[in-house]
Amino acid sequence: MELLTERLVLRDFLPGDWPAVFAYQSLPAYLEHYGQLPPSSDDVRLFVEMLHGWAQEVPRTKYQLAITLGGAVIGTCGVRKDAPDRLDAEWGCELAPAYWGHGYAREASQAIITFGFETLRLQRIWAQTSPANDRAVRLAEQLGFRRLSPGLYEATYPGTRGMT
Ligand SMILES: CC(C)(COP(=O)(O)OP(=O)(O)OC[C@H]1O[C@@H](n2cnc3c(N)ncnc32)[C@H](O)[C@@H]1OP(=O)(O)O)[C@@H](O)C(=O)NCCC(=O)NCCS
Repeated sequence: MELLTERLVLRDFLPGDWPAVFAYQSLPAYLEHYGQLPPSSDDVRLFVEMLHGWAQEVPRTKYQLAITLGGAVIGTCGVRKDAPDRLDAEWGCELAPAYWGHGYAREASQAIITFGFETLRLQRIWAQTSPANDRAVRLAEQLGFRRLSPGLYEATYPGTRGMT
């Protein structure tokens, strides 16, 4: 599947996308709030294969798309249900640090969240992040998520601000 925004194309992952993801998931700025060591190339190859596999599932439950700018993969965002008949999903978004600060995460997230509410007919989208992850917290708040507890957010339909 593909979603178009003003500046971005969101599309399903292909196995060959892994080097672009590996390049940014290895960076200290990206890893700061995950408390993890950099992944190996095999870890990221398997991760991208998993996302590609999710796109082939019927019925599909997880929509974790590549964010592309001018054809290059710069991150990923998605809504992920636990089962096909669920009316709630988890939202997540990440960008290569070189692309932070331009509103790309917000633009991509608005598109996938609108898709979740309007096309998947979700009633609730939730998100978790470290409360110390200022950029992620700002992003969730800008998107209209409500803080339930430190690091836990939800948006419900209708009534979510900032959705296109
Ligand atoms: C969380 C993350 C995606 C946020 O990225 P981001 O670039 O800061 O977020 P946005 O796309 O919303 O950009 C907002 C910034 O762009 C600026 N901006 C510039 N042009 C803009 C535009 N056209 N529209 C909106 N914002 C714009 C905003 O002013 C804001 O700047 P600020 O950071 O100085 O306040 C990024 O930090 C990341 O990938 N982190 C690692 C992974 C992670 O923690 N993910 C969260 C788990 S859910």
